[in-house]
Amino acid sequence: MNILGIETSCDETAAAVVQDGTKILSSVVASSQKLHTKTGGIIPEAAAREQAKSIIPVITQALKNQKNIDAIAVTQGPGLIGSLLVGVETAKTLSLIWQKPIIPINHLVAHIYANWVNNAFTPKFPLIALVVSGGHTDLVLMKAHGKIKWLSGTRDDAAGEAFDKTARLLGLPYPGGPAISKLADKYIKANKEDKLTLFPRPLIHDKSLDWSFSGLKTAVIREIGNTKLSSKKQEYYSAQIQEAIVEILVDKTLKAVENYNAKNLLLAGGVAANKRLREKFTSEINSKEDKIYFHVPEASLCTDNAATIASAAFFNYHPIAWNKIDANPSLTITS
Ligand code: KG4
Ligand code: ZN
Repeated sequence: MNILGIETSCDETAAAVVQDGTKILSSVVASSQKLHTKTGGIIPEAAAREQAKSIIPVITQALKNQKNIDAIAVTQGPGLIGSLLVGVETAKTLSLIWQKPIIPINHLVAHIYANWVNNAFTPKFPLIALVVSGGHTDLVLMKAHGKIKWLSGTRDDAAGEAFDKTARLLGLPYPGGPAISKLADKYIKANKEDKLTLFPRPLIHDKSLDWSFSGLKTAVIREIGNTKLSSKKQEYYSAQIQEAIVEILVDKTLKAVENYNAKNLLLAGGVAANKRLREKFTSEINSKEDKIYFHVPEASLCTDNAATIASAAFFNYHPIAWNKIDANPSLTITS
């Protein structure tokens, strides 16, 4: 079955055709990130306007050479309402004209399905998935397709938000995650022995599996004040910030794996593209006696794309009438 996926929840306009939820036949992503770099963050109206400009060219390109589409999947939420509406209304129109089934998809759940795309191994249930994106940090237990139990999340800022906000304090461009990651890599390469413990690891001794990232911002402000940083200092603080976020993410997630005796662990969302996070998970898991299957999608599948939307629709195939679908900006991972 070939599903056309459409994703427009934030600042990426994406369309993809995926066969049987696993094989990418085409995937196109247009990003308006450069525009948001200029303003230091996303202005929702500007993002929505870019969505409207890109949606038809992006879908057209994704459908080039793709003749047989069996169904359409579209991100229903969460996200920015103006951006979501562009994808949802386009998908509804295509569904009506082509007379093809339409499947509404939860963007956060779709992130997890990046682990089924281009993966020779099929993840096995029950599994633990950590979804770390710009707006969300959710740890879930998945017992089957469509059976998701929320375990924990952040009490304040999301992990990606922590990267974005602290990057801004360091004078780095939006989005902050890739910017911090790049400079941190530079620092780590030159200072392999540095333990990078400058910033606190909130809730690390707390019994809950929750996170809290808003204190990191305060700690960075306290540390650097209003000074304009040299590039060397930017690299140093990037490494410190990244380590604080990565360590606490890995710590709580592995506690959950142990608590639930899970044999599969999947990472998902934009922050999962972070090299240090991937390495730290891999080394911690390899050092454990109990072997588990750990998978993190290639970086381009971690950040927003439409292949994950089409994949999620294949494994959760519940078409509804085209005129029953509405964009819902406030969906949670279990709604
Ligand atoms: O999943 P995503 O593409 O969009 C949302 O659904 O939010 O995630 C975007 C987030 C941003 O906060 C961005 O800074 C972060 O992912 N991100 C990274 C990296 N690449 C993207 N964070 C850390 N390291 C990266 N390499
Ligand atoms: Zn996302």
